[in-house]
Amino acid sequence: MAPDPQPNAPRPASVAVAVTGASGALYAMRTVAALLEQGVHVELVVSDYGRRLLRDELGETATVERLVPFLAAKYGDGVHAGSVLVHSNRDLGATIASGSHGCRGMVIVPCSMKTLAGVAHGLSRNLVERAADVMLKERRTLVIVPRETPMSLPQLKNMVLCAEAGAMILPAMPAFYQLPTTLDDLADFMAGKILSALGFEHALYPAWTGQVER
Ligand SMILES: Cc1cc2nc3c(=O)[nH]c(=O)nc-3n(C[C@H](O)[C@H](O)[C@H](O)COP(=O)(O)O)c2cc1C
Repeated sequence: MAPDPQPNAPRPASVAVAVTGASGALYAMRTVAALLEQGVHVELVVSDYGRRLLRDELGETATVERLVPFLAAKYGDGVHAGSVLVHSNRDLGATIASGSHGCRGMVIVPCSMKTLAGVAHGLSRNLVERAADVMLKERRTLVIVPRETPMSLPQLKNMVLCAEAGAMILPAMPAFYQLPTTLDDLADFMAGKILSALGFEHALYPAWTGQVER
């Protein structure tokens, strides 16, 4: 058997990213690209409506199967620093369905109100919900990026339940004090907030200096 070329090399951080059927595919793509640029191993799971969302909002080339070429074309070759493993949302035997798997954290971006409800009530009906449940029970970082407006009382209560269980609720609410001029600026801001929540340093938006920089 060939020797391991770097037996003591640290393993790259592994982060689960779930994409569900709420509006905001660009947030998801920028988040995955930014994690890959950091050399992260991304464990990706996309719901059926998440797949539809990617196509509807970003076009026919934005498929899960051709994700890395899509990201490289949009964000550059830096995305090749990391790796992606795609899981089926129906596979409850996938690595991220178990607490013994060393996933550092998880983000659901964007998170539909349906998936939010499933996480809030610990339903584990599919891999997105199960992996989120694992993050909560293992006391690991779970970032939920809900997108809906206006919100009903059950939806608001589901966010409270998730926050009480330890998740970070990070709504898809980009700020405007950075004077964004493109949709990509807005996506950079949201991806930056998500990376910060997951414990990564980044330069996706400039730090607030106390005044608007024109
Ligand atoms: C075009 C389109 C846009 C949608 N936008 C949202 C949304 O912004 N927020 C939301 O909670 N649900 C939205 N939905 C509804 C969800 O996709 C639907 O509840 C779905 O069952 C979610 O399933 P999932 O969480 O497994 O992806 C949208 C559906 C469609 C077809």
